[in-house]
Amino acid sequence: MTKASLISIGAYAPKDILTNYDLEKIVDTSDEWITKRTGIKERRIAKDEFTSDLGYRAALQALERSGLDKSDIDAVICATITPDYFCMPSTACVIANKLGLKDVTAFDISAACTGFIYLLELAKSMIESGAKRNILIIGAEKTSAIMDWSDRSICVLFGDGAGAAVVSARDNNPILDVHTSSDGSKGELLITPGCAIVNPANKDTIENRLNFMKMSGNDVFKIAVNTLTKDVVNILEKNQIPSDNIDLFIPHQANLRIIEAVKQRLNFSDSQCVVTVQKYGNTSSASIPMAMNDAYESSRLKNGSLVLLDAFGGGFTWGSALLYFGGK
Ligand code: ACO
Repeated sequence: MTKASLISIGAYAPKDILTNYDLEKIVDTSDEWITKRTGIKERRIAKDEFTSDLGYRAALQALERSGLDKSDIDAVICATITPDYFCMPSTACVIANKLGLKDVTAFDISAACTGFIYLLELAKSMIESGAKRNILIIGAEKTSAIMDWSDRSICVLFGDGAGAAVVSARDNNPILDVHTSSDGSKGELLITPGCAIVNPANKDTIENRLNFMKMSGNDVFKIAVNTLTKDVVNILEKNQIPSDNIDLFIPHQANLRIIEAVKQRLNFSDSQCVVTVQKYGNTSSASIPMAMNDAYESSRLKNGSLVLLDAFGGGFTWGSALLYFGGK
């Protein structure tokens, strides 16, 4: 059977930095509170750029590093909860056009912070079935556009950015396994209630700030820790891989305490674990590929590295993946 391999990684972080000290001037918070509860010190804000601009830059870098020609790409899939447009055109179509790609399959998926894991499962399946050979997958978010900058319980947590990867048909360094799941009964704990079909955009929804993300942080925290711990244990056991065989554990970067809890349960060392939440905050679907790119650029992620990914997000959605890095 044809195997799928992640053959390159790229990322883009907007240049403007918003520190915890900057946030102290916007809401009633402190660097001490944010650092202690989340590990976040700063995040990036896209001022004059849209989600597709961030995704385009990350995708271009991943494409260049893949060694492939633009004409080799036969699909572009973008995971985002902050698309450029409501309904259409998809952000993937906008990015494909910016890249100058012609005649490609292009569509968005919405799986919140688990977006990149869902993308991996899709790309793996499409390649293994023979439907596609080279797929550009992108996690891109302008979360600052759906933040309530008067709500301290949420605006300190998120940031903007994008990450991208090329997944191709290859004989070596395969994506070994991907597991994704969801529980729609908990959707209201992490929700952007307004400005779609249920609560259409009007004076009331805007006045009631329903166009912004709302989160029951404490409930989400507890469920995230328990679910992620079970999920990574399951995927390692299923594939009979002991945790000390993992070269890099690259978790979704939402909160340092969630990462630490899973890390301790699996007995991962600091050198196995990639943490970037301190400098980017939670960039939702972009957080795993951005962290992977950091590991690549600091030479921690190398050709053949065995990598474990995990994520949890709105929906609820969650998932994990095991892969050998196929990039050079
Ligand atoms: N600064 C200062 N105080 C604050 C702030 C702030 N920014 N935010 C909340 N507080 C206060 C609260 O008002 C509360 O005060 P009180 O005790 O007087 O009522 C106190 O701090 C504690 O609030 P909690 O919400 O209980 O704090 P908690 O320890 O749970 O930390 C946090 C909050 C960081 C949000 C945590 O719950 C968390 O990380 N949750 C999970 C986030 C996550 O993983 N989301 C999933 C992915 S996101 C996605 O899919 C899009």
